[in-house]
Amino acid sequence: MSNTTFTMIKPDAFADGHTGKILDMILSAGFSIKAMKTVHLTQGQAGAFYAVHRERPFYADLCRYMSSGPIVAAVLEKEHAVTAFRELIGATNPAQAAEGTIRKRFAKSIEANAVHGSDSDENAQLETTFFFCQLERV
Ligand code: CMP
Repeated sequence: MSNTTFTMIKPDAFADGHTGKILDMILSAGFSIKAMKTVHLTQGQAGAFYAVHRERPFYADLCRYMSSGPIVAAVLEKEHAVTAFRELIGATNPAQAAEGTIRKRFAKSIEANAVHGSDSDENAQLETTFFFCQLERV
């Protein structure tokens, strides 16, 4: 298992001023931040990032939403980072997120769900490369 994962603080959480509180929860859970930047994605960049969902009915809305304002993208390090971080953020749908998770506290809906967390080591690597090596060329 890899020790790094990738996260985004999404437009709703960023616009509502929750970035500091979310980063505090991440650091308090024992993650360290290896890289971080603020980005305002174009719709095309959001579409490329979420290309795996392009056949899903929510894809167009998701791309519009993810390009609606700035986000914070970060690479996090901790033992078993992918699974540990998914536990910290909680279920995709905040209605199902456990108490004490980031989404339980900050998410507004299944779309505006405050944060993204990679779902596998392979995707953590791909998503990190996308944001920190390829983004300007997308
Ligand atoms: P995320 O973890 O970033 O990965 C894909 C995103 O698609 C997910 O968070 C949600 O924001 C969004 N998503 C997943 N399922 C739905 C859905 N049923 N309706 C709207 N958005 C969704």
